[in-house]
Amino acid sequence: MAAGISIREAHPVDAPAIARVHVESWRTAYAGLLPETVLVRMSLPNHTALWARVLGQRRNRDVVLVAEGGGHGVIAFGSCGRVREKRLAPAGEIYTLYVHPEFQNRGIGQRLLLRLFDALVARGLTSAVAWVLAENPSRFFYETMGGRRVAERNEPLGTVTVHEAAYGWSDITQFRAQTDARKA
Ligand SMILES: CC(C)(COP(=O)(O)OP(=O)(O)OC[C@H]1O[C@@H](n2cnc3c(N)ncnc32)[C@H](O)[C@@H]1OP(=O)(O)O)[C@@H](O)C(=O)NCCC(=O)NCCS
Repeated sequence: MAAGISIREAHPVDAPAIARVHVESWRTAYAGLLPETVLVRMSLPNHTALWARVLGQRRNRDVVLVAEGGGHGVIAFGSCGRVREKRLAPAGEIYTLYVHPEFQNRGIGQRLLLRLFDALVARGLTSAVAWVLAENPSRFFYETMGGRRVAERNEPLGTVTVHEAAYGWSDITQFRAQTDARKA
């Protein structure tokens, strides 16, 4: 269980910790799914700079949340905002969701996803989509979380093209009401 874990909005100072979780989860989750050259090219300095830029944009309406606890600092993060691919009906998008490999399967991803959904609803975005590598085992996580496969695409990533699947929630408000009712 995810006891002792707290979730809060990220600040620019969190950029190095978010980058560490990002790089380490990528390397673990995508080994065998993506070419080694892509994984090796990921670096802490590059990702720290990337997240510092995202978190430093004052007018950026995207949401970035971090989970921390147990004296380990940031152990997971997720981000969301308006959907980037306009051909899809859902208005919100889960851009990223990563739990450090040492802390997976403890309910942290689920808690973060529900908080990201709440952030979307607070911004008037009541449906959502999340893109994952089509072969990524995390697709089962999104299925467990009620997502339905709604689209597929091929995306360039470095020197390769990857096949991605989108999971969608047509009514996050209803989904949240159901999850709250299960807890009550
Ligand atoms: C996918 C990820 C975010 C899930 O977070 P997590 O904290 O490990 O998952 P949780 O413990 O909250 O799991 C919630 C539910 O999903 C299920 N689940 C999670 N990962 C699963 C998997 N790979 N296969 C099947 N079911 C899975 C859990 O069993 C649990 O089900 P339950 O509520 O019936 O017990 C996390 O494992 C991760 O960061 N993976 C690597 C990076 C990645 O692929 N991110 C997604 C792309 S953006």
